[in-house]
Amino acid sequence: MTTDNKSATSLPAASLPIGVFDSGVGGLTVLRALKKALPHEDFLYLGDTARLPYGTKSGATVARYALQTTRVLVDQGVKLLVIACNTASSVALPGLAEAYPGLPVVGVIEPGARACCAQAPHGRIAVIATGGTVRGAAYQTAILRHRPQATIATRPAQVFVALAEEGWTEGPEVEAVAKRYLDPLMAEFPEGGPDCLVLGCTHFPVLAEAIRKVLPKGVCLVDSAETTAESVALELAERGLLKPVPQGMKDGEQPCGTVRFFATDDPERFAKVGEIFLGTPLAAADITLVDL
Ligand code: DGL
Repeated sequence: MTTDNKSATSLPAASLPIGVFDSGVGGLTVLRALKKALPHEDFLYLGDTARLPYGTKSGATVARYALQTTRVLVDQGVKLLVIACNTASSVALPGLAEAYPGLPVVGVIEPGARACCAQAPHGRIAVIATGGTVRGAAYQTAILRHRPQATIATRPAQVFVALAEEGWTEGPEVEAVAKRYLDPLMAEFPEGGPDCLVLGCTHFPVLAEAIRKVLPKGVCLVDSAETTAESVALELAERGLLKPVPQGMKDGEQPCGTVRFFATDDPERFAKVGEIFLGTPLAAADITLVDL
């Protein structure tokens, strides 16, 4: 298998890391699920913090940013790319497939659509996402492919990105913003409310507790992290790209892969906020500053 990777790596493809990127630290919620599902794989994570947010930019700009972030990861050598950003997933897949024909690319929208359809017994689905994702109607398209009869309402909730990047994940301010976004969205489902609310932005899962406080009882929250990790595991298995389990491991021993972090702005800030998303400590010294 070739990844059309022009970098001079001599590692066999299966031993290369998995590349993951987002506009900032939001994609770390996906990396967390990937590490859990594939504990002995290695990862490279790039947060394009200098150009965040992506959700307010045009599709053409986000698609161009996605090509630039992917170039950095491909130059390092990756066997598969995860677009851990809904906004980029909604616009960048065609351009990336054209630029890197041999590179498997997994976005988060298709796995997110699968996850919510599985948790919507009546097919009533509410979605919050960035302005860009909502404008492109990517969730509607993906959900309707799985559930043609689904009732879907979407709403941009861009302020959530700023709150999450600020590390403000709870408290009255977050709940007030959540209420302002969710009340009109819930009103679009007069008959008993939606079955579920999709967190259609990888920054949103850290706000889940605050969102739950203002959400009517019985509406479940869905995000795409776990189903994305499942898709990645499947894709690697199908292509024979799962990293071989190290030889000589004793029974009960947990394999543990590595993660290398890259950011396009201030590593200190990335580490401070990033550990909320990743759920484990992060040090600025472990984050390499890159320029795209
Ligand atoms: N985390 C991103 C997403 O899933 C983008 C947030 C932003 O940069 O606006 O859409």
